[in-house]
Amino acid sequence: MNHPVVSVARRGDLAVVTIDSPPVNALSVNVRTGLLTAFTGLVGDAAVAGVVLACAGRTFVAGSDIAEFDSPVFDESDLNDVCAAIESLGKPVVCALHGTTLGGGLELAMACHYRVAAPNTRLGLPEVTLGLLPGAGGTQRLPRLIGVADALEIILSGSPVSADKAQRLGLVDAIVDGDGLDQALQFTRALIARQAPCRKTSEIAIAPDGGLTTLFAGARQGLAKKSRGAFAPAKIVDCLEAAVNLPFAEGLAVERRMFVECMHSPQSVALRHAFFAERETGKIPGLDKNLALPAIGRVGIVGAGTMGGGIAMNFLNAGIPVVLLEVAADALARGLANIRKHYEATASKGRMTFEEVDQRMALCRGSLDYADFGDCDLVIEAVFENMDIKKAVLARLGEVCRPGAIIATNTSSLDVDELALASGRPADVVGMHFFSPANVMRLLEVVRGRETAPAVLAAVLALARKIRKVAVVSGVCFGFIGNRMLEGYLRESEFLLMEGATPSQIDRVLESFGMAMGPCRMMDMAGIDVGAKVLGERAKEGTLPADPSYRMPCRTLAELGRHGQKTGAGYYRYDGRTPVHDPEVDRIMAELASRFGIARRQEISDEEIFERCFYPLVNEGARILEEGIAYRAGDIDIVWLNGYGFPSVKGGPMHAADVIGLPRVVARLGHYAEQCKDRHDYWRAADLLSRLAAGGHRFADA
Ligand code: 3HC
Ligand code: NAI
Repeated sequence: MNHPVVSVARRGDLAVVTIDSPPVNALSVNVRTGLLTAFTGLVGDAAVAGVVLACAGRTFVAGSDIAEFDSPVFDESDLNDVCAAIESLGKPVVCALHGTTLGGGLELAMACHYRVAAPNTRLGLPEVTLGLLPGAGGTQRLPRLIGVADALEIILSGSPVSADKAQRLGLVDAIVDGDGLDQALQFTRALIARQAPCRKTSEIAIAPDGGLTTLFAGARQGLAKKSRGAFAPAKIVDCLEAAVNLPFAEGLAVERRMFVECMHSPQSVALRHAFFAERETGKIPGLDKNLALPAIGRVGIVGAGTMGGGIAMNFLNAGIPVVLLEVAADALARGLANIRKHYEATASKGRMTFEEVDQRMALCRGSLDYADFGDCDLVIEAVFENMDIKKAVLARLGEVCRPGAIIATNTSSLDVDELALASGRPADVVGMHFFSPANVMRLLEVVRGRETAPAVLAAVLALARKIRKVAVVSGVCFGFIGNRMLEGYLRESEFLLMEGATPSQIDRVLESFGMAMGPCRMMDMAGIDVGAKVLGERAKEGTLPADPSYRMPCRTLAELGRHGQKTGAGYYRYDGRTPVHDPEVDRIMAELASRFGIARRQEISDEEIFERCFYPLVNEGARILEEGIAYRAGDIDIVWLNGYGFPSVKGGPMHAADVIGLPRVVARLGHYAEQCKDRHDYWRAADLLSRLAAGGHRFADA
């Protein structure tokens, strides 16, 4: 028999309504209907003096069931009806909270007459992070409980607050330790004993306050600057204003209308896609969920440079001891000092204490001797990007690491299978491609080599979660998922420069699409020399297209010492950190165009700039999918959302292409193939893309 998702049990004269819908007690249609039936049934039950609403499992309700927003069942029952039934029950309803009380979960709790919370409870309305607003009274009840200014902050930020803070704000009546349900029952009995009223949140008056007009005006001004075209935040302010100016029922109607508008907005569809795509990344086809995983309690790192230091901090922050190895004492001292400097700067800003700085540094042991890796469970190399050096390091690691230890490489462009062979134990080797700054960027590409053992892959994925990275598995190929797709994007932005577009025009177009940084500013920041070095290596290997003009702007600027921001000039000239148009770059591009017979144009449209940069990127994504380098289109989206500043409200490049329509993408690739006289096969649509487009399908269906 199916286990009921909502059950009612009696404890003397109290009823306990329990939601039990793993994993997070999301408010699916079944839960909503179950709650409505339970509370309707309790109305006339004279033997019940009060009710406790609680959840089984690891958490109270973490929100409405997001998966239902795209399904007709969403309209089958309304959480607002459940909230109204609870509020008007006529006997005290106490909500017992634990874990993550989010979204619809908090709205349900606010409809109860009292709330008690376990100390670990986190309470919040994160709808805005999904392009939504609270749609079951959250914008109307929260300001009544805690005041308009705090409510606005909580709903606009989407960030949860602790139980302590919630109690200080008046959102929670008591914090209960020990058995939460027992304590909630005691709390309810005490209410009944003193004949406490059924406090209806909807009936709390919001005190008239002249300051609110200024508050809302300030919030709208702030959004215009900060929220970069996001749809939901402005509507949240409108709903809060309705809470202040309208009776509860009318405010609720405004909220409902705006919630539905948000739910159908392309931004929310994209953000919900990203929510589920992120959770899919950890599901690896064929990987046994019950594999015994090697524990990772100590990590070794080779190379204490930019990446090695950043990688180390991830583990130190998670309380995992690190052995950091360098070639020479001065490089080691520099690497350790950089880590300390970073932590001290964080402490100076009040974001950690100086004791914590010392605690983290105490977990980090410097070393010049590979023997110190003997007790490490994982060693990651982050030395210079050079095959011979890396092979020598991997060979050494193969000798010194204990049997069963994992060996990882942070290479961004070298062949992980070749490196794995150099270790002499390829089953233990995996790529861990961190992004710079490695202690900040959420993305980790986990590169699964030909011989990587399943347990090694699974252990690294589990570790990634522990250090708060979003890990995406990639097969072995040049550039893995992200940098391989970047190649076509940069290629076209550089051709456009030679054809007459300016760096600022290209950046403006891509930034107005929502990219955190256009390609020219991005290259200037990452280092043009770094890009040119990889191109140089590929030229030596013979893996570049047979096109003499290929990526020549990057290679030429690097040769001229224009390495980007760090040398004060790259695609731009830098006035401090401000990029300024540099006519010298126009001259260089014109000269390259004439050298390679590229026609210059007076005007290149914004549409062409967008399409020429974006569609090759998508096309390469399609190839990555058809070659099995990525498991699914959503994985590619997660790479771009977390590693390349792709706008979250567009859901990632593959989702964005689905929205544009794959037939259009194919047609425009064909258009540019003609326009650019495609001698080097840059514009041929990937087979998978052509097939999906012809069949009326999307990447999401692939
Ligand atoms: N709806 C549907 N499924 C959900 C869900 C939700 N609200 N929240 C989590 N899940 C699912 C996840 O997809 C995942 O499923 P899987 O195991 O099949 O992949 C599973 O629950 C576990 O989730 P996580 O892997 O994220 O587990 P964590 O322990 O890391 O995090 C969490 C738990 C903090 C609750 C996190 O899942 C989360 O932030 N969830 C979303 C919370 C949210 O945004 N709530 C608001 C929803 S909108 C709403 O309520 C509208 C209302 O105002 C009307
Ligand atoms: P870096 O030059 O800052 O640091 C490399 C460090 O390795 C230096 O401190 C050097 O002394 C040390 N080293 C060199 N050979 C060594 C050896 N045999 N044994 C021990 N230490 C040795 O370089 P960075 O930027 O940290 O890059 C390291 C690796 O990370 C490269 O493979 C690079 O491709 C990769 N990477 C770099 C990214 C970036 O944005 N910088 C992003 C992602 C990956």
